[in-house]
Amino acid sequence: MHFLPEAIDQYILEHSAKEPEFLAKLNRETNQKVLQPRMLSGNYQGRILSLISKIIAPKTILEIGTYTGYSALCLAEGLPKEGILHTIDINEELYDFQQKYFQASEYKNQIKQYIGDAQEIIPQIEEKFDLVFIDADKPNYPAYFDLIIEKMNPGGVILSDNVLWSGKVVEPVKAEDESTQALLKYNKMLAEDERVETVILPIRDGLTLTRVK
Ligand SMILES: C[S@@+](CC[C@H](N)C(=O)[O-])C[C@H]1O[C@@H](n2cnc3c(N)ncnc32)[C@H](O)[C@@H]1O
Repeated sequence: MHFLPEAIDQYILEHSAKEPEFLAKLNRETNQKVLQPRMLSGNYQGRILSLISKIIAPKTILEIGTYTGYSALCLAEGLPKEGILHTIDINEELYDFQQKYFQASEYKNQIKQYIGDAQEIIPQIEEKFDLVFIDADKPNYPAYFDLIIEKMNPGGVILSDNVLWSGKVVEPVKAEDESTQALLKYNKMLAEDERVETVILPIRDGLTLTRVK
């Protein structure tokens, strides 16, 4: 969704960090070979994820929703040498694609891939997280928050993608629209939870920045 006039979007792109060639290649190959390439974070949001990660310098990152690995590689840019990024996706058909790019990257020893349902895998990861990126199935966002909140280090940051859901969060909600209903619940939960501070950023489809107290 475009929140700003196209000319402003273009100006922002021209005056923001450029997409590294390695990620541009991944982006192109996703568009050529994988279904639903719009799911990939893309150049602008990718640079935001990279910069936030570099500012935090997280020792442990969790990503829920790997897809073809674009956002994982952006987030990995902020890892210190000993840092680890755990990334989960339920779609096993994406594994080889992810693996090819992770192995070719400078983070090949720092990325752990998991295939399966995030709600089953998260409790098995015995780590506390400094940075979490939630970008999987929307109906489970509230469940993901409940699972990770106790596994966050103080001062840790949770990023949640698509929280404005193409503007549907301010429109009448259809009874069968599970994703919008879940996102409305999720946005309210985060705004009211006293363990965290939250702001929604009108970036792309809405990106929530949450800091754990
Ligand atoms: C929007 S895409 C992720 C895009 C990726 N983060 C990026 O920016 O390049 C969402 C992904 O979540 C995965 N997914 C959906 N339900 C899931 C679940 N229950 N557990 C883990 N992954 C899930 C899908 O297979 C899909 O690849």
